Amino acid sequence: MSKKPIIIGVAGGSGSGKTTVTRAIYDQFKDTSMLVIEQDYYYKDQSHLPFEERLKTNYDHPLAFDNDLLREDLNKLLNRQSIEKPVYNYEMHTRSDETISVEPKDVIILEGILVLEDERLREMMDIKVFVDTDSDLRIIRRMMRDINERGRSIESVIDQYVNVVRPMHLQFVEPAKRYADIIIPEGGHNYVAIDLLTTKIKSIIEDKHS
Ligand code: C5P
Repeated sequence: MSKKPIIIGVAGGSGSGKTTVTRAIYDQFKDTSMLVIEQDYYYKDQSHLPFEERLKTNYDHPLAFDNDLLREDLNKLLNRQSIEKPVYNYEMHTRSDETISVEPKDVIILEGILVLEDERLREMMDIKVFVDTDSDLRIIRRMMRDINERGRSIESVIDQYVNVVRPMHLQFVEPAKRYADIIIPEGGHNYVAIDLLTTKIKSIIEDKHS
C-alpha cells in the first residue's frame, strides 16, 4: 500500500497500562501492517555523561526526550522510508550503541508518557489516546517492573516516584489528557474501550486508504 501511514498516539502515566493497550490494539490488527515506536527509546543520548550524572536526570520532564529525532524518524516512516530506531538501556540510563532497522508500515503506534504533551507530535497523529489509571495501581505496577526488569531497588523506586515521577505526572502527563480523542480508564483490560478504539482505527484506515 503506498498511502500515507496512520499514526496513533498512546499516552498515559508510567504504569498506566499503555503497553497493554498497545498490545491489545496490535492483536486486533493481525492482517494490517503495524509497528510500535516507544518514546522511551528516544531519551536523549547521555553516553558522554558519567553514570552518577545520568542518575540525576529528570526522566519525566519533556526536555529529557529527543523529540526532534523522534519527529524526524516519524516523518521518514510517513514517507515510507526505513529508520534506525535507537535502543534504550534503563540500567545504564542511556542509549545503547546498537540501533534496530525498522521498515515503514501502514499503521504506527507511538507510545509514551509524554507523546500528547508535544504539540508537534500531536499534529502528526490521526488518533490520540490517553490511558487513565489510578495512581495507586500505577505505582504498584511500576515498582514490580522497575525492580524485576530495570534493576532498581524498592528505595530508589519510591524516592524517584515521590520526588520526580509524581510531580512531573501532575505537571505534564495528566494535563495532556485534554488533547486525547479517547480516554481509556483502567488501561489494557478495558475490553469495551479497546473494541471501540479498534472500530475507530479501522474506519480511519478505510477513509485514508480507500
Ligand atoms: O514505561 P514507562 O512509561 O513507565 O516509562 C517511562 C518512565 O521511565 C518514566 O516515568 C521515567 O521515570 C522512567 N525512566 C527511568 N530511568 C530512565 C529512563 C526512564 O526510571 N533511565
